[in-house]
Amino acid sequence: MPLPSFSPGRRDFLAAGAAAAALPFLSGNADADSLASLGARKGIRFGSTIGTGHLADQAYLALNAAQCALIVPENEMKWGATRPDVRSFDFSRADAIVAWATAHRIGVRGHTLLWHSERWMPGWLATYDFGPQPRVEAARLLTEHVSTVARRYAPVVDSFDVVNEAVDPDTGLLRETAISRHLGAEETIDLAFRTARQAAPKAELVYNDYMGWRADEARHRDAVLRLLERLKARGTPIDALGVQSHLGSKYSDSPTGLGALDERAWRTFLDRVTGMGLRLLVTEMDVHDNPLPGDIARRDRMVANHTRAYLDLMLSYPALHTVMCWGLSDRYTWLNGSRPRPDGMAKRPCPFDADLSPKPMRDAIADAFRAASPRAA
Ligand code: XIL
Repeated sequence: MPLPSFSPGRRDFLAAGAAAAALPFLSGNADADSLASLGARKGIRFGSTIGTGHLADQAYLALNAAQCALIVPENEMKWGATRPDVRSFDFSRADAIVAWATAHRIGVRGHTLLWHSERWMPGWLATYDFGPQPRVEAARLLTEHVSTVARRYAPVVDSFDVVNEAVDPDTGLLRETAISRHLGAEETIDLAFRTARQAAPKAELVYNDYMGWRADEARHRDAVLRLLERLKARGTPIDALGVQSHLGSKYSDSPTGLGALDERAWRTFLDRVTGMGLRLLVTEMDVHDNPLPGDIARRDRMVANHTRAYLDLMLSYPALHTVMCWGLSDRYTWLNGSRPRPDGMAKRPCPFDADLSPKPMRDAIADAFRAASPRAA
């Protein structure tokens, strides 16, 4: 089916988005064997991330339109993109991505209303003068930001990462930011969720973080669990845990591949999360292949096997209803820039290669969807 032409300037995405939101599992362009279709058959939404730099690459956009029921802006809804300064908002980049998605009847996730890590917030915030009543000003700034962004995209976005990465994995403590220094870390998180609920009452509200199933991630898992328990106990309106799923990591130099796994501890963690009544999402899946051999066929096979084992475990939870990759193709993966392989070879963390051809990881996701039991509607 030919794709509708895309005009980055279109402003009618809210109306188009409202129509698309009524069809949450459909991508207008997906064939029966696309990842979107295979997922949809089981009630799973499959998608990936799109960034501003991708909007000029028609072949990459066509791949996304063919495979995805859902996309998430890679950086464009973050404070760093939407807040040039304390007074203004700039939605031009996020709007362009949302317009592309809605023109193709693809759903949109929102990421992220608060990145609770100073490193990833705009520079001006770190030196901002909160004035004589810093607590009041911190609450005002946070409330204004969350409600403005959530309200704007609520007609299109039915699931928001409200708070991202609040836990320091090394200490297990909540991170401190310019805002939380005045409000308190947990109060900041609670206020972000309450404000999001008011601004987007129908949207799923998600806490998103990168704890995982490796043996050396126990402290991170425990700290996230304790945070979720405290939020539930105080009545914070949170619906789901986003499990980023950047599988493997730069810290791993295990000769066996992606590091020692602790599947039992991971299941215990997921049991406790879902036991609280929270849903699960895989929000940012890719595979750091640094510790894997250079040989491409072997490496791709190991990445695919790891992906399949991980998704089989995750999809055994009926509470898991969304699987997102952090990039469909190795052409654009963020990991090449931030964490290159020691041998200098290009990384291969995504389901399609740099030429947009499917890799074994793509089949692993497809097979995991085929094997999954259907989610309740
Ligand atoms: C990354 C983007 O992919 C990069 O382009 C950017 O420089 C940094 O952020 N966890 C998250 C995502 O929640 O927002 C991050 O995205 C990847 C890790």
